[in-house]
This record gives sequence, structure tokens and C-alpha cells, in this order.
Amino acid sequence: MIDGLAHFMNHDNPPIRPQHKMAQEIKNLVIIGQTKDGKTFRPSDWAERLCSLTSAVGNNKKLKYSQFVRPGHTPGGIKTVTVNPSLHKLDPLAWKFVLDFAKEHGLQFEAIPASPAYAAIAEAFRARHSTRKFLPTPISCDVIAELLELASRSPSGTNAQPWKVYALAGAAREALSAALLERFNQDATEKPEYDYYPNKWVEPWLSRRRKLGFDLYGLVGIPKGDKPRMKEQSGRNFLFFDAPVGLIFTLDRHLAQGMLLDYGIFIGHLIIAAQARGLASCMQTAFADYPDTVRHHLGISEQELVVGGLSLGHPDPEAPENRIVTEREPVEAFTTFQGF
Ligand SMILES: Cc1cc2nc3c(=O)[nH]c(=O)nc-3n(C[C@H](O)[C@H](O)[C@H](O)COP(=O)(O)O)c2cc1C
Repeated sequence: MIDGLAHFMNHDNPPIRPQHKMAQEIKNLVIIGQTKDGKTFRPSDWAERLCSLTSAVGNNKKLKYSQFVRPGHTPGGIKTVTVNPSLHKLDPLAWKFVLDFAKEHGLQFEAIPASPAYAAIAEAFRARHSTRKFLPTPISCDVIAELLELASRSPSGTNAQPWKVYALAGAAREALSAALLERFNQDATEKPEYDYYPNKWVEPWLSRRRKLGFDLYGLVGIPKGDKPRMKEQSGRNFLFFDAPVGLIFTLDRHLAQGMLLDYGIFIGHLIIAAQARGLASCMQTAFADYPDTVRHHLGISEQELVVGGLSLGHPDPEAPENRIVTEREPVEAFTTFQGF
């Protein structure tokens, strides 16, 4: 049996593993229509029949197989059924049924790793997290340009490419940080560019926001209610959390609010590309709280809306704030699957 498959066979609940190991484990389970003594399994349409149990009727009134349980065949022509491991969470009964079927009939199993490209991308997604303390190790302009070039491959409505980036390092970054921190420490306020957070937080978002705050302040040892230290920690936003590179993103006001969607995709591409390149990041809308200072300091015209900023660099492995692990709701909690 292929290493790693045992838990599919022996556990209804596969063991929870550290997230960074998940990518190596993305494997489809393939049931092969051959019994352990090498005989071809009959009836010849067993795979289609098994898959039809999790299929649905499509718009064209034809049977549509679920993406999680699909028929196929080996290069040698033996019928197979490929089971996506996500089925375990999405439909535990179907998962159990398919596995029991294979076990009862003595069919062979194989665990097929996803393609290397998918595994690498999945690894970057799973390993990325917001980093709030960076090492001073510099990053070359070429690397930043390469990441931005990759990010610019992201889609945008009518290919408008609404992004505009100010990449800052060294004295340029420090000067902006100093100006912003001074304003922040003076409790100065500026008219925010746009409503990012709601005026009133309600559940379930309120609890998620609170948890992040508790976790972050807890890790850096700030007791509840210690406002001066909480403010100091918030102020670190403006230092780009000591990152060697800070990016400021702007959007031309000739464009509409909807283009913030394109911007989100662009930044999403950028942070994943950075992760895959061995760099950490933290997206920050904190910079949009001081748009006048940012604009004045970087010589940006009123025509440009300050969307936010991004810290980029190598994470400090010793920093407690970088140990924060944020949770996610399971897919079925935010997705309604229809017609599968
Ligand atoms: C649009 C956006 C704005 C954010 N602004 C800030 C910010 O100003 N300061 C900060 O420390 N983190 C900021 N974050 C990071 C979020 O807190 C973080 O993404 C979230 O807690 C999930 O954690 P993770 O990124 O580690 O997965 C922002 C994230 C996004 C996507």
C-alpha cells in the first residue's frame, strides 16, 4: 500500500496534520478495478455505477458525475474510480460508502499525488500568513519587479489593470514610516479614503475580529486593556513591521469602486508569488487611514486614492507575533453546492 494511504482506509476521520505538511498529502484516492489476486473486477460497468451514486442530472438531462467521484481507467485499460479526499468532509456518508465498496470487493487502491505545480501552489497558499515582524535582510529591486510582473498577470475588468504601486526601500521607506508614525502618535486623524471596516461589527465577524486581536496581543504579551502598548503595537503598521520593502497601492479616481475587486486579485497574486519566492508579507489597509500624509510624502496627486500598503521581506523566525495561526471556516460553511 502506498505510504500515506493507510489513514484513508483505517480512519473515518483522517488525523489532523500541521497545515504546512498538507500540500505533500494532496492525493486523489484511485480505486482500481482489479482484485488483490489480479482478477479484473466485474461487472464491466462497476465504475460508472459506483460514480452514478454521487452524480446528479445536469441541465441537458444527462447524468453528470460529481467532481469528487469520477470514473476513469489505468493506462492499461483497467476501470478506475478516482475519489477526491475532500469528499470525506463534504459528504462523509458517500466517502464511507465508496471506501466500503472497494474494501468489501477486495479492490486495489492507489493514492495519486496531485501534479507538482498544483502541490507547489497549494503549499504557497497554506504556508502564507500575515507576518508582523521582519528581518532587515534587503531584497533587490529586481526581485520586487519580478513579483510585480507576475502579479500583473492577474485578471481585471476589461483588462483595465487599475493598479499603481509605489515600492519603497531604505531611506525612502524609513522617511514615510517616520512621518506616519509621528501623525499616529499625535493621535492625528485624516479622512479615510473609503469604508473598509463596518461602522458596527456584528456576528460572526465580530468574534473573528476579536479573536485575532486577543491572539495577537496575547502572543506579544500585551495584557487586556493595556491601551498604550496596544497603540504601540498598532503603530508598528506604519514601520511596515520593520520590513525592508514597503509597497503603497493607489487607484486612480477616474476608475470606480468596483475596481477594488481587481486590486484584491492583484494583491492576492502578489502575496502568493512572494510566498513561493520565500518572502513573507502583510497586507495593510492601515495606510489608508493616513491618505494625506502618504500622498504628501510620496508626491502623489489627489487624483489617486490610497488603497493600502504591503510589507514584504524575510520573516523573523523568533518573533512571537509571527506564530499567530488564524483559523478558517470549513468550505461547507460558506459554500452552497448545487447541481453537482
Ligand atoms: C485587505 C486587508 C487589509 C489588512 N490590513 C491589515 C492591517 O492594516 N494591519 C495588520 O496587521 N493586518 C492587516 N491585514 C491582515 C489580516 O489581519 C490577516 O490577513 C487575517 O488576520 C488573516 O490572517 P493571515 O493573513 O495570517 O492568514 C489585512 C488583510 C487584508 C486582506
